[in-house]
Amino acid sequence: MIVVAAGSGTRLGAGGPKALVGLDGRSILHHALERVFAAPAAQVVVVAPAGREGDALTEVLATAGDRRDLVGVVTGGPTRQESVAAGLAALWADVEVVLVHDAARALTPPVVFERVIDAISAGAPAAIPVVPVVDTIKRVEGAEIVAAVDRSELAAAQTPQGFRRDVLDAAYDSATADFTDDAALVAAAGHEVAAVAGDALAFKVTTPDDLDRARALVAEHPS
Ligand code: CTP
Ligand code: MG
Repeated sequence: MIVVAAGSGTRLGAGGPKALVGLDGRSILHHALERVFAAPAAQVVVVAPAGREGDALTEVLATAGDRRDLVGVVTGGPTRQESVAAGLAALWADVEVVLVHDAARALTPPVVFERVIDAISAGAPAAIPVVPVVDTIKRVEGAEIVAAVDRSELAAAQTPQGFRRDVLDAAYDSATADFTDDAALVAAAGHEVAAVAGDALAFKVTTPDDLDRARALVAEHPS
């Protein structure tokens, strides 16, 4: 599993890398890793912001328990895609299934990891958690509404996104454009991507409002 935590958190604007921002006494990365280690995964590679690898390692040691031998920390790149690539380069040769997870989805329940792993085990080359879109969506051009979009054919993609290792490696080797998620990159390489049920708690901490919500949830349900 690759946990990408190297982003700067521009939209959050907390004055430091987002993964190291606190939810309670513990950081976003700490909460994400607690849930990662509750799911079955062999190797876990944490992709850290440049210069903050030591802080990431501290969170790993605090959460991995007896699995700390299975964890590595590598330095991320300027884009998420480059950070994932850095994680991929650190995977052991014998890893056959790769999950890529956003540390920013700090409260993702372990059952979501299990659903993704099960879909890959059942033969899907790629599988991602999705949730229904609740808002009514419009297509706009400037200030003009040009079309309604049928909500029933839309879903919001979450992480962890799971892949057969050979499929993800090949897609990254051949990727030329920048994609917003790994599923789009793998789909562009011609592979089918399966959908499994996501979870509202797998929301991404992106804005200050998201951070407030994550802090409130952690305060309500202390782990
Ligand atoms: N990420 C990363 N390396 C990057 C950019 C993002 O590892 N160069 C990770 C983030 O740490 C996060 C996940 O990818 O866990 C999703 O990215 P996003 O929510 O966009 O985080 P940031 O890029 O940090 O935030 P922003 O776009 O607001 O700057
Ligand atoms: Mg970003």
